Amino acid sequence: MITLTINDQQHELDVPEQMPLLWALRDVVNLTGTKFGCGMGLCGACTVHLDGAAVRSCVTPVAAAAGKRVTTIEAMATDAVGSKVQEAWLDVGVAQCGYCQAGQIMSATAFLKDNANPSDDDIASAMGGNICRCGTYNRIRTAIHRAAG
Ligand code: FES
Repeated sequence: MITLTINDQQHELDVPEQMPLLWALRDVVNLTGTKFGCGMGLCGACTVHLDGAAVRSCVTPVAAAAGKRVTTIEAMATDAVGSKVQEAWLDVGVAQCGYCQAGQIMSATAFLKDNANPSDDDIASAMGGNICRCGTYNRIRTAIHRAAG
């Protein structure tokens, strides 16, 4: 049994220790806002926070999250920075197909908590690992500046 604290709620999961955290979130806890993209740590669609740091849940074993705070996109509406990021996302109309956007918002939120006044270069290097097939990168940058301001 693995005990996870997800969005401030405790969950007891009867799952193998090596199960990817993404599987546990989506298929066991039924938090489906976090998306599966590549499953190999390459695209960022599955990004969640572990103790506030952005991690790729598809390559994080569920056992590695035990004893840490797991935060998902479902909690961003009540997160001080996450809610500003989501508002900026809507104001700018970032999403096209939308599939990568939960991961983008999780990466952007963790980043803005470390750097409240980022440059374009800061944003490019922080967000470079989050891939968007629709190419919404310019709108993502605009929204991050807006959320920071
Ligand atoms: Fe995890 Fe692509 S699904 S990085």
